[in-house]
Amino acid sequence: MGRDKRQNPYARADMYAQKARSEGYPARSVYKLEEIDRRIRVFKQGQRVLDLGCAPGSWLMYAAKKVAPGGRVRGIDLKGLEVALPPNAIAIAGDALTPGPEVEAFLVEGAPYDVVMSDMAPSTSGTPFADQARSAELVERTLDVAEQWLSRGGVWIAKLFMSEALIGLRKRVREMFDEERVIRPEGTRSVSTEVFLVGIGKRTEPAGLSPPASVAEPPRAASPPPPTEPKRAAKSAAAAPRRARRTPKG
Ligand SMILES: C[S@@+](CC[C@H](N)C(=O)[O-])C[C@H]1O[C@@H](n2cnc3c(N)ncnc32)[C@H](O)[C@@H]1O
Repeated sequence: MGRDKRQNPYARADMYAQKARSEGYPARSVYKLEEIDRRIRVFKQGQRVLDLGCAPGSWLMYAAKKVAPGGRVRGIDLKGLEVALPPNAIAIAGDALTPGPEVEAFLVEGAPYDVVMSDMAPSTSGTPFADQARSAELVERTLDVAEQWLSRGGVWIAKLFMSEALIGLRKRVREMFDEERVIRPEGTRSVSTEVFLVGIGKRTEPAGLSPPASVAEPPRAASPPPPTEPKRAAKSAAAAPRRARRTPKG
């Protein structure tokens, strides 16, 4: 048995693929997320989760189960999904790297999120250097999304094809989160160079959701305009800065 696995690096992979089929998941990658969840306790009931690169849907299905009841999961992928999703999960076809207005609206609608996770992988070009660069770009983008829409204290997970970019990415993760991990789950094929970067405990509020103007900038005590200069007072009030506020929906 052990000997068979040494000879055939896919023996273990087949085991995961079979298990996924028998448990109703469309992809074996679900066991990578399950292991990450087991190791760092990612999900809790009632959470909001964003899944970037969600097709064919295993991570979505797993997360939807873990955050029910009350929690919701949103997914984005270049491809459409063919699986039937549970009622607390929804997905949209689109580019998470450069979102158009529809994807942007979809992101905002579900925000803020407690978990932002990405299993995105570039379509491989056959040139490892180019694939690694594209993978690192995807990871950077997911950190941008986390900056905008991940709650304070939230968890971020992203897959990376190993390269020198790891050093810079880890630095950014350490700046954004209380804790940073690099995890290579057991379910990863032995020939794969992928790892998962994890940020635990985001330090800041989601930048995309500005606090109410009254919190961000307490109103100054209005001094009554001097009776002799009514016009000047009216002019300065009109010039006072205004803060835009986005109200989370959904
Ligand atoms: C390994 S699969 C994800 C598997 C998924 N986690 C699951 O468990 O079913 C990687 C996915 O990333 C998607 N992807 C790659 N680049 C993307 C992008 N820019 N925007 C959205 N999805 C992307 C691909 O279409 C592909 O479906």
